Amino acid sequence: MDRRNFIKTSLAAGALTGNRAQALPVLAPGEISPDEIRKARFPKDFLWGTATAAFQVEGAWNTDGKGESIWDRFAHTPGSIAGGATGDVTCDQYHRFNEDIALMKRLHQKSYRFSISWPRVLPQGTGAINQKGLDYYRRLTDALHEAGIRPFCTIYHWDLPQALEDRGGWPNRDMAGYFADYAGLLAKHLGDRITVWAPFNMPWYFTHDGYCIGDSAPRKRDARLFWKAVHTVALAQGQAFRALKAASSNATVGSAFECEPAVPKTDSAADIAAAADFDAYHNRFFLNAAMRGEYPAVDHDLLGFKPGDEKIMKVPLDWIGVHYYLRLIVSSNAAVDSLDPMSRLHVELGSQGPKPPGGWEMWPNAFYDMLMTLSRDYNHPIIEITESGTHFPDTLPLSEQLHDSARVEWYKQHLAALARAMKDGARVRAYHVWSLLDNLEWRAGFTRRYGLAHVDFATQARTVKDSGLWYGRVAETGRLAD
Ligand code: FCB
Repeated sequence: MDRRNFIKTSLAAGALTGNRAQALPVLAPGEISPDEIRKARFPKDFLWGTATAAFQVEGAWNTDGKGESIWDRFAHTPGSIAGGATGDVTCDQYHRFNEDIALMKRLHQKSYRFSISWPRVLPQGTGAINQKGLDYYRRLTDALHEAGIRPFCTIYHWDLPQALEDRGGWPNRDMAGYFADYAGLLAKHLGDRITVWAPFNMPWYFTHDGYCIGDSAPRKRDARLFWKAVHTVALAQGQAFRALKAASSNATVGSAFECEPAVPKTDSAADIAAAADFDAYHNRFFLNAAMRGEYPAVDHDLLGFKPGDEKIMKVPLDWIGVHYYLRLIVSSNAAVDSLDPMSRLHVELGSQGPKPPGGWEMWPNAFYDMLMTLSRDYNHPIIEITESGTHFPDTLPLSEQLHDSARVEWYKQHLAALARAMKDGARVRAYHVWSLLDNLEWRAGFTRRYGLAHVDFATQARTVKDSGLWYGRVAETGRLAD
């Protein structure tokens, strides 16, 4: 959608009243004014970046000794991913990372958030290192440094070695130790090149969707397994924090949390409580586990909680990673499954604001509110925006994919909200667009395009979109408008 489609200037109204001089833009609900966008400024050392994840961009799924991941298994099971897509090749970044880094450089990028594929480095999840896999990340990070780009490493972006799932996966408490050993090994071998580490990407999402709902790998549908997985991951987050610090004195460690502001649908006490529950579980479960050593009221037997676990999971994260895509409208629901806290909630997309072609409402002030709330609640932590973006359906013609003015508008709006939050005290040091490239969007396959660069998956040609060119100028100038 073009700005023209949702902003009407009041010139016409001004003409009607004969008062053109006082005409002001009429904003769509939730929209930030052109004046605020024009005035937004970012500091010189702000880290402009993009984000990807191994399974979504690397391809080379069984090359050079890589082991199978749960997402390889999922994708290879017919009917799992839209259009029968797999991660076998996707953007082929494993073979094309130099080209992708040249693209980042061209767009004046200062940070690249990527993830390491656990089964590429440790095909069985534990035990012998696959040297060729480790060397890939050495080459990748060397090339990033050469281009003046900070490597930001997500240690776990959902592609668990299948061998570890076969040993029980995250519900198996031993996994916390395996994960911490793996994190320590990465810091030992790559700590000279990488200082910024996020043990997990969206821990609530991958445990809930993978073990409770069963929509994602490893496709388990059992709330009891889910709660065990949740507790293992909270322990793993704490243990990995310590293992990274022990192996590399320069390591700074946070995690990347899904932060979807929850707005109560009505002002009834039940809906207000439902929105608060959404925030406590979906947004903050693992954040509070780390920063406070606390969970919301969850039955400790279900978790397999042992005395002293609160000390293992509590670690002072050096920074908080925030993903922001949209706000959600939450109301209370009759519980379908008493063990699943999400089943007590009804969650819907907002519908008042403008909608880019992907159909998700744009409401940038919710991003501002989220940043201010986190700043207040966690004593003004350093924040990294670890992901943020909007998708276009792949059914749109190529010219509309490339001339993506609605995506430019989306970023203008959200970056203006970010600039305001920073002015008001939020200590945000980096922003990572999701994503550098169109890539494999999990179960949605190649049907959702998020990239600043278009990828033709038949030829692997990358073409920078208007949004990419625009974001490059922002990174160069620290301004949102020319
Ligand atoms: C986030 C995931 C990322 C990508 C974006 C669109 O939830 O972390 O891998 O799929 O959504």
